[in-house]
Amino acid sequence: MSIGPRTGGVKAEAMEPEGLSEREEHFCSLARESGYLDETAFEEAMEIRRNRLAAGEGPTKLPTILREEGFLADDRYHELRRRVLERFPKERSIGGFRIDRKVGKGGMGIVYRAIRLEDEKVVAVKVLGDHFKHDPKLVERFVREFRAISSVRHANLVEGHDAGCEDEVYYYAMEFVDGESVKERVLRDGRFEIKEAVRIAQCVARALDAIHGAGFLHRDVKSSNVLLSEEGEVKLSDLGLAMDLESDSSLTRTGTGLGSADYSSPEQLKNAAGIDGRSDIYSLGVTLFEMLAGRVPFIAGSQASLIQRKLKEDAPDVGSFRPGIPARLRDLVNAMLSRKPEERPSEPAAVLAVLDAPLSERVLRRKTTARRRLKPRKKGGAGMWIALGALGMLAALALVVFLVAR
Ligand SMILES: Nc1ncnc2c1ncn2[C@@H]1O[C@H](COP(=O)(O)OP(=O)(O)O)[C@@H](O)[C@H]1O
Ligand SMILES: [Mg+2]
Repeated sequence: MSIGPRTGGVKAEAMEPEGLSEREEHFCSLARESGYLDETAFEEAMEIRRNRLAAGEGPTKLPTILREEGFLADDRYHELRRRVLERFPKERSIGGFRIDRKVGKGGMGIVYRAIRLEDEKVVAVKVLGDHFKHDPKLVERFVREFRAISSVRHANLVEGHDAGCEDEVYYYAMEFVDGESVKERVLRDGRFEIKEAVRIAQCVARALDAIHGAGFLHRDVKSSNVLLSEEGEVKLSDLGLAMDLESDSSLTRTGTGLGSADYSSPEQLKNAAGIDGRSDIYSLGVTLFEMLAGRVPFIAGSQASLIQRKLKEDAPDVGSFRPGIPARLRDLVNAMLSRKPEERPSEPAAVLAVLDAPLSERVLRRKTTARRRLKPRKKGGAGMWIALGALGMLAALALVVFLVAR
């Protein structure tokens, strides 16, 4: 089932023919041969499957139904699956994409480099984790957000290609960015050159401007979602996957949910449902802080104490971790990290206004250094006095020698 913007149709599954796939057929005939499945149980399971297909809800693979509904014990199910796999080895492909290699793993699933079969285009496919399965509400939201969000296009946004579901596994295909994330670079090289940090933050702020302009929030801005291509492009990824999941309890509680609390605004930690664009500004502030300081503003021993600190304490001054940072940039980062949303720049354009303006102090400082270097060196200086002193002493010594010799 494809739920991409081009192919569309969440209900597509409901329209699928009721016939079983080759794998399912084989599974059932093995189950019958082994005496694990009789006709009555088979028919009952088929009935459940038909109802689920009609409602567009729940797992519809017959082997899964047989196990979940208690027609087949777990050990028998696994034995049969192993035997099916021997006959039909799993292809490393999903939807219309051939999986090439794993490129990373995050809170929501695994990311692969993959090839779109239709045109051999290289893409990235994120296969969502198990917590997405069996939760029609989450899936419905995922589909809705994916569709809406993939309509936002911007040079600094990873483009969403397609989303779909195969064998009850949800996946999301997007533009492949050949390079690394800001997080990976910080972990390897430490803090960034100020100029480079500013350039990257400008690109992310432009991407946020486009997202907010289209009426969405990103909700998961963080250094691992800022991808840097080998050509130096900056692309913000994972928009739309964040949705309102944080407020959906189990995901955050089990820690399988979104983003790490390192980047979330205090109000997002308190009540994710009520946030606005200034929450994304805070998260961009953390990302910019991390690029400048080589670390995030709050570090704590546990997730719970991290959240407590973020709610109760002001973020440290970025200038104390990066001396010599231009005052305008320092003030901007500190303002973006204000605990109160109303004390932050209200929108990405306000952040850009500061980042786009020449960071005057830095420019001034460069001019002063240049001027100092251009000044003619004073004749003499300390060196000259030392030389004169040495000459005087030599003369005195010569005089003593002359007098003694006489
Ligand atoms: N579109 C993409 N192109 C290339 N690599 C990607 C892409 N999206 C994610 N990755 C890689 O996969 C890793 C895991 O991504 P993700 O699952 O989004 O985890 P995270 O929660 O860290 O953002 C990222 O750190 C990045 O290296
Ligand atoms: Mg990501």
